[in-house]
Amino acid sequence: MGESNRASKKKQENACEEPEFYNDITKVLPAAWDFMEEGVRDRHSLAHTPVVSTLDVDGKPNSRCMVLRAVDRQKTTLVFHTDRRSIKANELKSSSQGAVLFYDPKRKIQLRLRCGLSLDTDSVETNERWGKMREMSKVCYQSNLAPGDPISDPEQVQFLGEGFENFAILTATVKRLEWLYLSFRGNRRAIFDWSRTGGEDGKWLVP
Ligand SMILES: Cc1cc2nc3c(=O)[nH]c(=O)nc-3n(C[C@H](O)[C@H](O)[C@H](O)COP(=O)(O)O)c2cc1C
Repeated sequence: MGESNRASKKKQENACEEPEFYNDITKVLPAAWDFMEEGVRDRHSLAHTPVVSTLDVDGKPNSRCMVLRAVDRQKTTLVFHTDRRSIKANELKSSSQGAVLFYDPKRKIQLRLRCGLSLDTDSVETNERWGKMREMSKVCYQSNLAPGDPISDPEQVQFLGEGFENFAILTATVKRLEWLYLSFRGNRRAIFDWSRTGGEDGKWLVP
């Protein structure tokens, strides 16, 4: 068997033991959205609490975990809940640029999303989401002080009112998605860019 045949046979054997996206870029983006949708459905999924990053007024990055509430693969959006008085919500006034990061060591997948961020308050959607929320989840929106305010005593915080006035939806619209799959047979890295190509036609990158 020639050198190139041997290399091609080895490539086929390796690919057989890997997920179907291993050497097929058309399967990568659907797998990425499947992973994120699982994060919405399953609170035990590692996609349930990605890291969301914003930029502060000086352009310095700020990251925190957030619960992923909804995903729309057609609109390329991710939905989060937050307090309109929070630092992250205020940061959106100076920069709408953000990033969302996922990693699942079992799936061996990292997703790095570059996003446009927007905040929605007192809308049809915030009303709907607030209506479906459990009472215990509403409590954190009922604090008399804004999240991040300095306090001398943690007991100083009081929970008053309905809380809806502080409730906001943070929507991340994905502009670029970078996929990394870890494998001892060789890692796979791909990029999908909606701002340039419409997103669907991904490109492999050197891992
Ligand atoms: C597992 C986990 C899930 C969280 N989910 C949310 C969330 O859905 N919304 C939110 O505003 N903060 C959430 N937080 C708290 C944030 O990480 C952060 O501490 C808080 O929102 C204040 O962030 P900020 O000062 O940058 O606005 C979560 C924290 C953890 C550890």
